[in-house]
Amino acid sequence: MDREQARQRIEFLRQEIERHNYLYYVKNQPEISDEEYDRLFRELRELEEQFPEFHSPNSPTQRVGAPPLEEFPTIEHTAPMLSLESDREEAALRAFDERLRRGLGEGVEVAYVVEPKLDGASVELVYKNGQLARAATRGDGLRGEGVTENVRTIRSVPLWLRDEARPAPPFLSVRGEVIMHLDAFERLNAELIAQGKTPFANPRNAAAGSLRQLDPRITASRPLDIYVYDILAAGGLQIGTQWEVLQALRDWGFKVNDLARLVHTVEEILACHRDLAARRDELDYEIDGIVIKLNDLAARERLGATSHHPRWAFAFKFPPRKEVTRVLKIIPSVGRTGIVTPVALLRPVEIGGVTVSRASLHNREQVERMDIREGDLVRVQRAGDVIPEVVERVEEPGRKRGPRFRMPERCPSCGTPLVERGPFTLCPNGFACPAQLAGRLQHLGSRHALDIEGLGEETAKLLVEKGLVKSLPDLFDLTPDQLMELEGFAEKSANNLVQAIRRASEVDLDRLLYALGIPEVGRAVARDLAQHFGSLEALRNATEEDLMQVPGIGPKMAAAIVAFFRDPRNQEVIDRLLDGRVRLREPERAGPQPLEGLKFVFTGGLQRWSRSQAQELVERLGGRVQSSVSRQIDYVVVGENPGSKLDRARALGVPTLDEEAFVELLRSRGVPEAALHAG
Ligand code: IVH
Repeated sequence: MDREQARQRIEFLRQEIERHNYLYYVKNQPEISDEEYDRLFRELRELEEQFPEFHSPNSPTQRVGAPPLEEFPTIEHTAPMLSLESDREEAALRAFDERLRRGLGEGVEVAYVVEPKLDGASVELVYKNGQLARAATRGDGLRGEGVTENVRTIRSVPLWLRDEARPAPPFLSVRGEVIMHLDAFERLNAELIAQGKTPFANPRNAAAGSLRQLDPRITASRPLDIYVYDILAAGGLQIGTQWEVLQALRDWGFKVNDLARLVHTVEEILACHRDLAARRDELDYEIDGIVIKLNDLAARERLGATSHHPRWAFAFKFPPRKEVTRVLKIIPSVGRTGIVTPVALLRPVEIGGVTVSRASLHNREQVERMDIREGDLVRVQRAGDVIPEVVERVEEPGRKRGPRFRMPERCPSCGTPLVERGPFTLCPNGFACPAQLAGRLQHLGSRHALDIEGLGEETAKLLVEKGLVKSLPDLFDLTPDQLMELEGFAEKSANNLVQAIRRASEVDLDRLLYALGIPEVGRAVARDLAQHFGSLEALRNATEEDLMQVPGIGPKMAAAIVAFFRDPRNQEVIDRLLDGRVRLREPERAGPQPLEGLKFVFTGGLQRWSRSQAQELVERLGGRVQSSVSRQIDYVVVGENPGSKLDRARALGVPTLDEEAFVELLRSRGVPEAALHAG
């Protein structure tokens, strides 16, 4: 390969790899396997080594982290990064709205964009000639720390702007929030603890701390993500509203939160607040309120800002999720995996609308590190869908404290001597330990598993204690008569539970997989497995190699899954479940869908449908819509004023259809006429 060929190939590979980064990390719609991606990446790295003259800081290979810095440079922001007026009270929100309407004058129509208030670290990203040029933390609002090399390691940060859907301005400065997803946060903390280091108190600290590492390679190893929500400065843009700002940011390839809403009244804002507060626990990242922004950018200019915050935006916060209370007692609790967790029984305290009376102390090492003892005052946090946890001890100078907490030497449930596994303590008695069986039973009945109403912690314990359930499948053989023998059960509640169990016995494969409590298999992995293998039989017989074909499943998970299915005790559980006790609904296959297996890309405007209607239609018919053209695409549908996607389709030889031909294709595949006039 000569220099010129190498240069071209390098350029092609960089574009292609970044496109796949975008599809994977921003759009969540990968088009190629991890292996294919790795192949492209390796080829690029080898070429760059061979031709060092083509080095570029914005090559995707540079995302792994540059050499460490001595200190961060101070960077002046292109425009002040203001903070927000914020409050938790409805009255304050109403006052904000009234003030704003008064400021704009009678008769001006007001629209707001409501966005989730992400609990992370605010950053500025600057793009020159479309290329990421620098990035800085918020700092004091005027100047921040230059964390360019660290931000480059965040895969959802575009290294250059996309310009297919909309031209990219020569200069662009945007603001966004760097966050760490909850699962990544848990994993990072577990790792830090295992290395004997101090874990982060919350995902925000983890995100901010990871961003401010002098060694970018450490940042690269931390799973950070970013949502971008604002344009701080730009050259020659014609954008009139925040709603369009969000769309433009999306078009340029930024990750934009899709929970944003366009509203017109305070009542609608309150509804958004309620809605997001209710969904807060389902999200896999932390939000601490909503941000309300005047949609009209020109009107914003008229309102201006105080020295601290703009007059056109308001943060309407959720109730805090951390409170201080006292530890009444510390008890060891044996979970379904055998891990013994020290649990603090608390003086009950309300946290974010939920009364909390117990909180996890995680493990032996954590209790020792925080030195929590019975009687201490502690700060307790509730985040996401997880068990509340003690985050720190609150000092009370002069108070006499009790003795240090010590883990028991034997399992509090079955009396087996406990063993230490790093910072954790484990009961090795497995299925024979009643606490572990009760834990598995409770998990089986939990909301995202079989969702059996009435099978909570207490009932699960009771069923095991009284010998009614000796193994998970026994649950499905229970009769109302047996249940009525139990303390707290009457005829009605016994019948209800049996009915709930019966209803739950018809179950989707992914839920059953999650319910079984296979190590390493959470809900997302369970869904991927169900989709990939289609049946429990196929999954049971899968080898580690088969499992690693599923995107996101690495050797460790694959080994854990295979070991689970190989264990004769688990085999017996599954065989007995399938022997008439549960009925599996395999992933829906109601005959082939008209567009099943076909991938489309749209470019240009259509007559009959808006872009999102067209996308919905294709997806409803079993097809997929992707944002960029590759050889894997079956058809590119070309409307009026198509963009560069048409050129790319021609270059790659991907078939193109105009709108009429697209409609014909749908007809020929038996799509009913009515569906063709949706728009
Ligand atoms: S807008 C001038 N939008 O909340 C408007 N901020 O003080 C600037 N934040 O420092 C902020 N999510 O770090 C805005 N969707 C969002 C946000 C958001 C989180 C943070 C930001 C800011 C703090 C409020």
